[in-house]
Amino acid sequence: MNEFTFYNPVKLLFGKGQLAKLTEELPKYGRKVLVVYGGGSIKKNGLYDELMNVLDEMNMEVHELANVEPNPRVSTARKGAAICKEKEIDVLLAVGGGSVIDCTKLIACAAKYDGDAWDFVDKSARPVDALPFGTVLTLAATGSEMNSGSVITNEETQEKYGWGSSFSFPKFSILDPTYTLSVPKDQTIYGIVDMMSHILEQYFNEATNTPIQDEMCEGVLRAIMKDAPKLIEDLGNYELRKTMLLGGTLGLNGFLRLGYTGDWATHEIEHAVSAVYDIPHAGGLAILFPHWMRYNLHVNPERFKKFAENVFGVNGEGRTTEEIAVEGIERLQSFWSSIGAPENLADYNIDKTHISLMAEKATKNGEIGRFSKLNKSDVEAILTASL
Ligand code: NZQ
Ligand code: ZN
Repeated sequence: MNEFTFYNPVKLLFGKGQLAKLTEELPKYGRKVLVVYGGGSIKKNGLYDELMNVLDEMNMEVHELANVEPNPRVSTARKGAAICKEKEIDVLLAVGGGSVIDCTKLIACAAKYDGDAWDFVDKSARPVDALPFGTVLTLAATGSEMNSGSVITNEETQEKYGWGSSFSFPKFSILDPTYTLSVPKDQTIYGIVDMMSHILEQYFNEATNTPIQDEMCEGVLRAIMKDAPKLIEDLGNYELRKTMLLGGTLGLNGFLRLGYTGDWATHEIEHAVSAVYDIPHAGGLAILFPHWMRYNLHVNPERFKKFAENVFGVNGEGRTTEEIAVEGIERLQSFWSSIGAPENLADYNIDKTHISLMAEKATKNGEIGRFSKLNKSDVEAILTASL
């Protein structure tokens, strides 16, 4: 493992009834709150009404920004930043999944900036201040509730990139599994694939001698995989939702990558795919990850063997390293298919037309990945294999 600094200031409020803690957390930052949410799921499952009652009792001055898109757009963040400036908002509250939280992160930083919000995403500027914000998470997936990352789409230029800063950590995040009970089957599947992919991105990393981190990654993966099929059959199961909620947060809050960064090429390729085709993030990951693995197996076959044996319990007796490694990749792909994730880009009607364009976008700033470095033609090969 390499030298590292670990910093994560997010206060996590986990479990039933935690929404009531808003009365302690929000007033620390002021009285004027901008509530940011998506396309209406929180109105259907009752969270919106519950939240408005709490805010009302607290005498908060409430403003709202609704309709944040899945794959949130910079134009929406611009709208949010304009509201913050006009209404002199004190604090933001993101209520939703990763998209709502990511959008809120950009709004919070752009609200304290005179230039355009996209400047932070394309990294031509760095935030030097931000409005404080908290989150109420409704979907177990991205880990955005406990990290500083944010992924934003520019619909005009068909670009989708991640950015982050020390100003884009939530001050607090409320994680009550109750609010995830209404997540439909497809989004539940995507969430499981996304959190597993985050762990895989970190497991296939650029460091050596990471025995503790490896065990943590393997253990969290096994625990998610044990409960995932049960949850898909029993979406209203509170205890299983609880496992997934914690799994998603641990998957990307920094604990699993102490001493390395992880690969992240698959995420960069997926972001290019969803920038061009606007498909669900983890639908893309389920398709791309096994192909990234096959393409990179030669880099460190022992690592893939370890993955196969420790995560899937593949019996390696009398078999070559490569055979065991390949079985691990196949087992991952069939696990994802078994819970209902897509396997080919064709499932989203994506053909070879824009392979070159997507590879171009993924490698816009040069080679991607750390476990192995991929250039544009490597990315084209992975995308082609994924068709
Ligand atoms: O918009 P609403 O009506 O709320 O519906 C959402 C949306 O349609 C729905 N949903 C959320 N909670 C629900 C619910 N439906 C019923 N009941 C609930 N409790 O689910 C749909 C998808 O929501 P979204 O927020 O888009 O999903 P997710 O949390 O998977 O976030 C995906 C976005 O996060 C980015 C992705 O690229 C994508 O843009 N990522 C962010 C990361 C980060 N910040 O660290 C890392 C990830 O790798 C990822 O790239
Ligand atoms: Zn992801």
